[in-house]
Amino acid sequence: MSGSKIQCSLGLIVWFFVLVVMKFTSPQQKEKKVVASISKVYPKDTEAPPGGVDDMTKLSYLHEPGVLHNLAMRYELNEIYTYTGNILIAVNPFQRLAHLYDTHMMEQYKGAAFGELSPHVFAVADVAYRAMINEGKSNSILVSGESGAGKTETTKMLMRYLAYLGGRSRVEGRTVEQQVLESNPVLEAFGNAKTIRNNNSSRFGKFVKIQFDKSGRISGAAVRTYLLERSRVCQVNDPERNYHCFYLLCAAPQEEREKYKLDSPKSFHYLNQSNCYELDGVNDAREYLATRRAMDIVGISEDEQEAIFRVVAAILHLGNVNFAKGVEIDSSAIKDDKSRFHLKMTAELLRCDAQKLEDAVIKRVMVTPEEVITRTLDPVAAVGSRDALAKTLLSLV
Ligand SMILES: *[C@@H]1O[C@H](CO)[C@@H](O)[C@H](O)[C@H]1NC(C)=O
Ligand SMILES: *[C@@H]1O[C@H](CO)[C@@H](O)[C@H](O)[C@H]1NC(C)=O
Ligand SMILES: *[C@@H]1O[C@H](CO)[C@@H](O)[C@H](O)[C@H]1NC(C)=O
Repeated sequence: MSGSKIQCSLGLIVWFFVLVVMKFTSPQQKEKKVVASISKVYPKDTEAPPGGVDDMTKLSYLHEPGVLHNLAMRYELNEIYTYTGNILIAVNPFQRLAHLYDTHMMEQYKGAAFGELSPHVFAVADVAYRAMINEGKSNSILVSGESGAGKTETTKMLMRYLAYLGGRSRVEGRTVEQQVLESNPVLEAFGNAKTIRNNNSSRFGKFVKIQFDKSGRISGAAVRTYLLERSRVCQVNDPERNYHCFYLLCAAPQEEREKYKLDSPKSFHYLNQSNCYELDGVNDAREYLATRRAMDIVGISEDEQEAIFRVVAAILHLGNVNFAKGVEIDSSAIKDDKSRFHLKMTAELLRCDAQKLEDAVIKRVMVTPEEVITRTLDPVAAVGSRDALAKTLLSLV
């Protein structure tokens, strides 16, 4: 496999803006003496054009301040893409730039030599596609960057362009690329959450595999997710939110909420650790219906959907099961009637025996070569074991 790389960048630009602001807020000092150690001073590229260069290998000095300065100058001119050799650096524009991604743009980049046109994510996809067709080998494109840098959006643009190049192979009336794109809302409901930086942050890695036939048409696709941030299920820091799916289900139509015995998100321990319940401009009730529709479209049956949301509800109920000290030392018992109710609901939703579930949470079984030892857990350890179960459950969804 040969590879291409896209680096999405957010931090760089923030750094630059901080510098600019500092300059403007100290007007009284027209001339300022700066003392810097010689090891921290970098030469400026005097030959670089004022608008920056589109490929940073053209810079005379490839040091960090030079790279940041170049990216910032281009960003000022709304040029969000810059090459460093065959690596594409994308800086999040924090606005829709529709003209950059329309069909006309796709036509321009189709078959164009790399570096001939302005840097663009389509150019990277085009190189990978051509290499695959010409050499008959698999190609991969790596999209990396920090949270909020725009990896998910970049991946969507890549898929859209590849679908444009190799599109129109119909499966049951829908094109494969449509199905791949339509799987996004489903993945995002279960793997996205609001973080400080991003109201819709993907908290998982995604491996998208698109298969092409001999003639270069899309013949199949698979999306695999990995490394879900599991700790978020039971621990949310204010003002972040847990995974969207929990709030969506709490906003489901009345009869479904009754079926799952769900109340407001404020009544669940896993959600009420943070004071953020709603997102501006997002209607969770509508999102719930949209997610169900998206699940229909990608071919998840009614029964499977029901099973998935049963697990989501079970996690919420499980989080409300609390423990008190048991009769024996270092043992625990279900705390009160409320906890008992939530335990019963969890077991019902998971279709398992409530007593066995209780035992699984408040006892630990250890298998040694000689024997199997069952040990009771104190309330603190029982909470740990409850949370571990909740994390595992979400990763199964
Ligand atoms: C997150 O983004 C996806 C795709 O852009 C969108 O379908 C979904 O509604 C968004 N969800 C929230 C809660 O903003
Ligand atoms: C969070 O939910 C739990 C379980 O229902 C409840 O005991 C607790 O008082 C709630 N906390 C807040 C801050 O609302
Ligand atoms: C994210 O949500 C917060 C509060 O819900 C809102 O103030 C902010 O404008 C939103 N940001 C974006 C980029 O949508």
